[in-house]
Amino acid sequence: MNSKKRIFSGVQPSGNLHIGNYLGAIANWVKLQDEFDSIFCVVDMHAITVQQDPEELRKKTIEIAKIYLAAGIDPKKSSIFIQSQVSEHAELCWILNTIVKNGELAKMTQFKVKTGIFDELSESESSKEVKEKANEIGGVESEKNAKYAAFQLAKKIFEIYKKEFNDAGTGLFDYPVLMAADILLYGTDVVPVGEDQKQHVELARDLAKRFNQKFGETFVVPESRIKKEGMRVMGLDNPEKKMSKSAESVYNRIELLDSAEIIRKKIKKAVTDSGSEIVYSDEKPALKNLINIYAAFSEKTPKEIESIYAGKGYGDFKTDLAEIIVGFLTPFQERYAAISDQEVLEILRAGKEKVQTLAKAKLDEVKTKIGFIV
Ligand code: AMP
Ligand code: TRP
Repeated sequence: MNSKKRIFSGVQPSGNLHIGNYLGAIANWVKLQDEFDSIFCVVDMHAITVQQDPEELRKKTIEIAKIYLAAGIDPKKSSIFIQSQVSEHAELCWILNTIVKNGELAKMTQFKVKTGIFDELSESESSKEVKEKANEIGGVESEKNAKYAAFQLAKKIFEIYKKEFNDAGTGLFDYPVLMAADILLYGTDVVPVGEDQKQHVELARDLAKRFNQKFGETFVVPESRIKKEGMRVMGLDNPEKKMSKSAESVYNRIELLDSAEIIRKKIKKAVTDSGSEIVYSDEKPALKNLINIYAAFSEKTPKEIESIYAGKGYGDFKTDLAEIIVGFLTPFQERYAAISDQEVLEILRAGKEKVQTLAKAKLDEVKTKIGFIV
């Protein structure tokens, strides 16, 4: 019997993976695979919650699996598979749908972000807007005006919410339940993800507990494992927001498959703070982010980096940073290019065989408990 604890995680095959995904997620998995019984999934069913081009989706699915391998996920130690090839995920998702509440899903931050509700609300939610509205109609000094303005604003927020909610796909709404199914099917103990996914893991915990309470001990209640703050990579064009696959500007991120030339160009264009000294401080968020990236790829501490560049300027620092990233990504890309489609498909098939046995056993247990004939 294997006594190691189990981890499960996944990335969607959409957009281009960047060094934030690597440093924040995949590099962590590579370290954890020795300590844990590990399952890593390419979550194509999650990807179709927003529109995808079918050919592109197939291509990306293979690309992500190759990236896992090139990063050092070892198929001898870990299982790698494609979510849609194990239909137990969809089946358990349906069953969990019958115990989740709409209200639990409606409060998920990612849903509000992806539908656009969040952006629109954060623009209108300010008390400033209440005041402006009240001023339009004669000032907040009058309690009646203030109340009226607040009411108008509430109405507007409700209208925004209703419109975005009604236009959003049900899959996007249900996304966290599918993620709970992914996790719970395998008796997962620990889920290594970025901060943004913590709320979804919390839901998986709640659903596991609820199911266990209703039908008897069935699911392991999973824990999330969030990386330390330093591993949150921010956008090169805006240090206030995290580096993202979906940011419009390609100058937001260094993609794992970017050429050396592109990497140098992107680092050169990366925003910096005022002043010319290389110091690691919260007052210089752009530089802090670049130093974090430098530290992560060079195994040096921010303090050591500061001392290397004492008396030097951004130019030297950025030139070296670009070369450090290129120095890491070049061999990474060579490993990536050396893996054939056929080879990766073979690994994915073997992964599927292995995990499906586990998934089927758990799903049969669930079906029996809820009264299905198995
Ligand atoms: P996503 O790109 O949102 O599909 O995320 C895939 C994984 O990478 C998740 O575990 C995220 O938390 C992680 N991740 C995404 N962007 C970043 C970032 N800028 N810094 C650190 N981790 C990230
Ligand atoms: N929602 C996760 C993300 O966007 C991907 C994901 C799907 C996942 N299922 C999962 C992560 C199960 C961990 C465990 O990053």
